[in-house]
Amino acid sequence: MTAILQITDTHIVPEGALVSGRLDTFAALTRLIERITSIQHQIDAIDAILISGDLSDNGSPESYDRVKSLLEPLGLPLLVIPGNHDARAPMRATFGDQFAADGPLDWAQKIGDLTVIGLDTLVEGAREGTLVPSSLAFLKTQLKNAKDAPVLLAMHHPPFQTGVKFLDDIGLTNRDVFCELLADHAGPLRIICGHIHSMTVADVGGHVAISAPSPCSTFAYDRRADAPVGFMSLEDGCLLHKWEAGFHSIRIGPNAGPGPFPF
Ligand SMILES: [Fe+2]
Repeated sequence: MTAILQITDTHIVPEGALVSGRLDTFAALTRLIERITSIQHQIDAIDAILISGDLSDNGSPESYDRVKSLLEPLGLPLLVIPGNHDARAPMRATFGDQFAADGPLDWAQKIGDLTVIGLDTLVEGAREGTLVPSSLAFLKTQLKNAKDAPVLLAMHHPPFQTGVKFLDDIGLTNRDVFCELLADHAGPLRIICGHIHSMTVADVGGHVAISAPSPCSTFAYDRRADAPVGFMSLEDGCLLHKWEAGFHSIRIGPNAGPGPFPF
């Protein structure tokens, strides 16, 4: 069995700052890590933690150091990919071991039974995402190398439409070419992403794609053309992706109430 814990959209800021003057994202991530630590004995071993973008809210070097300082005590391999709020240079400075010296922050690692692939969809200065030709070529090569072995594929921007206008306006611009590429892959594969701060499951190129919730905030599922644009605070947890003769994705939500009580 192989287990990857996916945390996404932590939006950490420098010490003393709040996101949009409201959210203490460092405190929210601290609470999530406390929750994970408190249940670790219940969920079997975790092989690695993967943060699927928007680690930082403002791309500051200090925010990446703060993310690392919170997660390092868990003693697990830490894998990261950038989101639209991130910046490549400070990410490379803090998490450089997993990246090539230049270019997009794409990577592939064998973890247990899984080939884990991270794709960089960041367009610096923009909120929408794109897979540049070199990232698409990298993906094609990695899928070919994986053959029939299970693949967990992480990217920040979801490769599916959400139905929420402001989120789809800042989505993945070349979703079609990504879907075509995946449709050619016959092996077991699960796509995991972030960006939309809520858990959604969708079909993409014949595979299942899942977006993870955020530990600090969420957006309404509001399909109206004139829906208000903005966030709400919600400490909505993270996802645990397991491979054991098939994929199994489990949501680790906020703390439940007291119990368990006998039936
Ligand atoms: Fe985000």
